[in-house]
Amino acid sequence: MTPELFALIETLTAARSLPLNGYQRLIEARCPESAALLAKQAVQARKEIYGNTVYVRGLIEISNFCRNDCLYCGIRRSNRHCQRYRLTPEQILACADEGYLLGFRTFVLQGGEDIFFTDKILCELICTLKQKHPDCAITLSLGERSRESYQLLREAGADRYLLRHETADRTHYQSLHPPEMSYEHRMQCLQDLRELGYQVGCGFMVGSPGQTSAELARDLKFMEEFKPDMCGIGPFVPHRDTPFRKEPAGTVELTCYLLSILRLIYPPVLLPSTTALGTIDPQGREKGIQAGANVVMPNLSPVSVRKQYELYDNKICTGEESAQCRDCLDARMRSIGYEIVTSRGDIKTF
Ligand code: 5AD
Ligand code: FES
Repeated sequence: MTPELFALIETLTAARSLPLNGYQRLIEARCPESAALLAKQAVQARKEIYGNTVYVRGLIEISNFCRNDCLYCGIRRSNRHCQRYRLTPEQILACADEGYLLGFRTFVLQGGEDIFFTDKILCELICTLKQKHPDCAITLSLGERSRESYQLLREAGADRYLLRHETADRTHYQSLHPPEMSYEHRMQCLQDLRELGYQVGCGFMVGSPGQTSAELARDLKFMEEFKPDMCGIGPFVPHRDTPFRKEPAGTVELTCYLLSILRLIYPPVLLPSTTALGTIDPQGREKGIQAGANVVMPNLSPVSVRKQYELYDNKICTGEESAQCRDCLDARMRSIGYEIVTSRGDIKTF
């Protein structure tokens, strides 16, 4: 490893921060030795806060209708080949009940920006869910909504909101999204969510088409400044029915490298080892944990619709029942010396 890299890692570990060009160099000049050192430090930092425990969240994919047209996403509105589905509130509650029996204490309701899910319908759903399972945290991941909507959902009982910023570089953001979407609005949503008292998750794709190390450096700086409760990152994976069908996927190597850096920037942050990581490498989720991640999100959606929530090609876990996914991840985590815990799994910031 070069002295430059070594010095950057020393500074990052001590100061929890690097200048923008420091992050960029750390990415550009990376080598297997710098990855190993960062992973070691990241695992150490996580261990001090979370021990060998991995938090688990039950993911319920409630709808693949979407009014947006993000260029990378398989459920974008202009994908005519996507078979659309929408779970009824009853189906969603049934998924949560099943998840509760399996030990889940956090439910993530994720979906495209489906106008069927009005504030009224969602608020009723959240209230019922909270009444049935008051000891559970409810996370929403339903895209951009108005501040008023976020407020109503929060008042109904939603605890957390995941909204990936996708990239902290305005120009790159525009290249991944249709003209009617804006970086400013995305960032405003994250700000609103925080002000309304949500625990907030942001995140970005690694290896999205045209992404450079300068742009990734901005994602790291954003994370350092915003200090989200969670940061979801995963490799970009092409989808056959999108304009990015021929673009190469992101790599496990770079995703894990960035997971380690994120852990060192903000040690308490919740970092999921994502399904996308498990999709491009059968051992991807284990590698993510060993790089510093501490959350996994098994799928609780009805098996009958799983294949349809296809954000990218070859997504894993589309044939397994909820219990199978839970057991599978249990075994995977145990195989690398970690233990899944069934608590709400709140961030530990002291
Ligand atoms: N590859 C990887 N991740 C994707 N997402 C959407 N499409 C893709 C893709 N093709 C991610 C986005 C979104 C999250 C729900 O899934 O970051 O915010
Ligand atoms: Fe779903 Fe392994 S986590 S099959």
